[in-house]
Amino acid sequence: MTTILITGTNRGIGLELARQALGKGWTVYGSARALVTDPEAHICAHGNFHDLVFDVTDHGAVRAAAASIDAPIDILINNAGVIGPGRQSTLEMDFEGFARTLAVNTMAPLAVTQAFLPHLKRSDHARVLSISSLMGSMSHASSDRIAYRASKAGLNKVMQALATDLKPLGIAVATLHPGWVRTDMGGAGAAVAPEASAAGILRIAEGLTLGGTGRFHTWDGSDVAW
Ligand SMILES: NC(=O)c1ccc[n+]([C@@H]2O[C@H](COP(=O)([O-])OP(=O)(O)OC[C@H]3O[C@@H](n4cnc5c(N)ncnc54)[C@H](OP(=O)(O)O)[C@@H]3O)[C@@H](O)[C@H]2O)c1
Repeated sequence: MTTILITGTNRGIGLELARQALGKGWTVYGSARALVTDPEAHICAHGNFHDLVFDVTDHGAVRAAAASIDAPIDILINNAGVIGPGRQSTLEMDFEGFARTLAVNTMAPLAVTQAFLPHLKRSDHARVLSISSLMGSMSHASSDRIAYRASKAGLNKVMQALATDLKPLGIAVATLHPGWVRTDMGGAGAAVAPEASAAGILRIAEGLTLGGTGRFHTWDGSDVAW
């Protein structure tokens, strides 16, 4: 049976990923910054769902959460992310907000992966997927929301390097654009339903092998230019 760890399962794409993974009969470890206890709005009452409480930027708390689990993890999805500060143009930047955006979107996925690496090593088919964004592609010269764009471009580079370093251990790594999704971040006018995005992400997670490691995909499987 597959065991999956997803960060940011209290809402948005992460919640839908967790719901669908539970629907497949998988064991799901889901993280949130605070314990979610409302079964109407969440999956916390499901028998195969295990809460983890940590802020992804608190590396000590992430390591403590990892130490609390004694099970192999087959799939890690680094999903938690932020859009960044209100002022984030190259000509007017909230630098504290920029640093927080890098901490959540770029550094935390690596810190979470490092903390849970012992669990991934215990799986026969371990995979790490990180939710990035087309907005981080170097092929686009757009300059709006540059803290967010830079944080996802940085995430892409970190995950490409991680794919190289984890290949000898048999662990596959992929970076995904989830689509423009109807969540708090994407807004009500976004093109893709969370259900469709999460289904595509899990399909890629299920099919990911070392043959496809180090790639940047969209949620529907097409390659994205770095
Ligand atoms: N929606 C889109 O159109 C879109 C497009 C491209 C990429 N993405 C990416 O997809 C991922 C999920 O986005 P979403 O649309 O589902 O966004 P969302 O609805 O805003 O949800 C973001 C999730 O990240 C969590 N999070 C934020 N900062 C955190 C921290 N410091 N520690 C722990 N958890 C934290 C949030 O928890 P709290 O409730 O505690 O804040 C929440 O669970 C993100 O990486 C985002 O950049 C989204």
